[in-house]
Amino acid sequence: MSDDWDDYADGWDGNSDVRHYATRAFAALDGLAGVTGGGWQDKRVLDFGCGTGLLSEKLAPHVREVAAVDTSERMIAVLEEKALPNVRALCTDVLDSGAREAAGGLAGFDLICASSVCSFLPDYRGAAAVLAGLLNSGGMFVQWDWLASGEGASGLTLQQVRDALRAAGLGSIRAEQAFEMGSGGQGMPVLMGSGIRAPD
Ligand SMILES: C[S@@+](CC[C@H](N)C(=O)[O-])C[C@H]1O[C@@H](n2cnc3c(N)ncnc32)[C@H](O)[C@@H]1O
Repeated sequence: MSDDWDDYADGWDGNSDVRHYATRAFAALDGLAGVTGGGWQDKRVLDFGCGTGLLSEKLAPHVREVAAVDTSERMIAVLEEKALPNVRALCTDVLDSGAREAAGGLAGFDLICASSVCSFLPDYRGAAAVLAGLLNSGGMFVQWDWLASGEGASGLTLQQVRDALRAAGLGSIRAEQAFEMGSGGQGMPVLMGSGIRAPD
């Protein structure tokens, strides 16, 4: 597998597993936060590591704005071609304060989603702390990642997620298996972790 996400951009949306993952993640998010219930129309969302925007596409009709950020130019190019009206697609490293300030408007979010991103980061705990700081008080961080069978296995363990979100200063932390990809005994479990930024 290439280390460069640009290499996957052109075929990303054509991969039924990737689309299915986004559908299941959005359903889990809706179960957690009720985004389709009508109460989110004034909310601002950050889709961190958005790729081609498969989750942004589902969120956008229910919220005021989605800032969709990714460090892969090609992923963002595919998303830009979709021309989604209230999705701001940005190729930038939102974890870097200089890049964030240069882009502008990358703070004050009511919801930050990270779908299949965190376990690929070199410093997941550091990223969680930065992202928690971009939430409004009462805002929610939600991530989905492969559920690791133990320390050292690929993905993240539920304990790693709980520890990182707690260290990031979030409260009401939840971490659990959300769904499974694949079938016939070959299923790969996916975790959902979430936390809320306490009111200041
Ligand atoms: C497995 S893909 C998931 C894409 C999308 N969230 C989805 O579910 O279809 C991981 C994405 O994370 C992005 N990524 C990795 N590190 C990043 C960072 N520091 N900031 C923003 N995006 C990052 C990659 O470029 C890639 O598009």
